[in-house]
This record gives sequence, structure tokens and C-alpha cells, in this order.
Amino acid sequence: MGNITFVMIKPCAVSHEHIGEILSIINKAGFHFVSIKMLHISKSQAEKFYAVHAEKSFYKDLVEFMSSGPIVAAILQKENAVNDFRKLIGNTNPANADEGTIRKMFATSVQENAVHGSDSDENAVIESNFFFSQIERFYR
Ligand code: GTP
Ligand code: MG
Repeated sequence: MGNITFVMIKPCAVSHEHIGEILSIINKAGFHFVSIKMLHISKSQAEKFYAVHAEKSFYKDLVEFMSSGPIVAAILQKENAVNDFRKLIGNTNPANADEGTIRKMFATSVQENAVHGSDSDENAVIESNFFFSQIERFYR
């Protein structure tokens, strides 16, 4: 266990034409792409995906933002995938993200922070199942 994580390239980074650069960084960091697709989620899908944040002050804005344009969704495979990917993306707030992290390079604010990464092995499975069926997965 612990070898997959679920990621999204958020609408801000897609509209700024950063898909290619971000995918390249992910690949060079040693992650294998199990699944990948581009799609535009509805408001109700964004509400479901971020339901854990329903009580937060930023929930409504977050849902609006995540359904504002296309995203890239992917499942990544690597030993220790969840923690290694969280390290690669950096702090939620780009102002606090380390140099060389994806959020330091591509996030423009705490909300428009370029990428999503699962925060646990359990959530990686739940989030992957939200977006991908079994026949869309190519494990190494
Ligand atoms: P994700 O990988 O997207 O889940 O980010 P995270 O795990 O680093 O942060 P968290 O799950 O706490 O928050 C989910 C998302 O909500 C963040 O990535 C931001 O896009 C947004 N968010 C978090 N905190 C704030 C905030 O204080 N203000 C606003 N406007 N958005 C926030
Ligand atoms: Mg999170």
C-alpha cells in the first residue's frame, strides 16, 4: 500500500498553459502515470470532491474556482507516493512554499495554487475512484 496518489492540475495552471511543464516535473521526480485525463467538472462534482471542507469559509469560492474551467486529473504511482508528491508540490500557500516546489513555481494565491495532491493513502483511493474506472488504469 501507499504507492498511489491522486493529483489535479487546477484550472489556473491549465489556463496559464502550464500543463506540459508540470507533467514533466512530475515525471522527472520519478512518478509513473497510471491514469490521466482532462475534464471540466461541474459545481456539484466539485462540492462532492471537496465535501470535507464544506464548513470552511473558503468552500464556496473553492467550488466556484475548481469548476471554472478544465483540469487535468491523474493517478500517480511511486513508492511513498502521497508523501513524496506533497513534498514536490510544497505548502498550500505559495508564500510559504519552498523553492523548487510546483506551488512555488506556478501558484498565484492560496486558492489558485496550481495543483492538488491527496493527503493520505485512504483519500488517494477515494479520490482516484471518484475520477477513474478500473479499465482506465495502467499500473506498472
Ligand atoms: P489540496 O491538495 O488542493 O487538497 O490542497 P491542500 O491539501 O494543500 O490544502 P487543503 O486541503 O487544506 O485545502 C484545499 C484547497 O482549498 C487548497 O488547495 C486551496 O485551493 C483552497 N484553500 C485552502 N485554504 C484556503 C484559504 O485560506 N483561502 C482560500 N481562498 N482557499 C483556500
Ligand atoms: Mg487537501
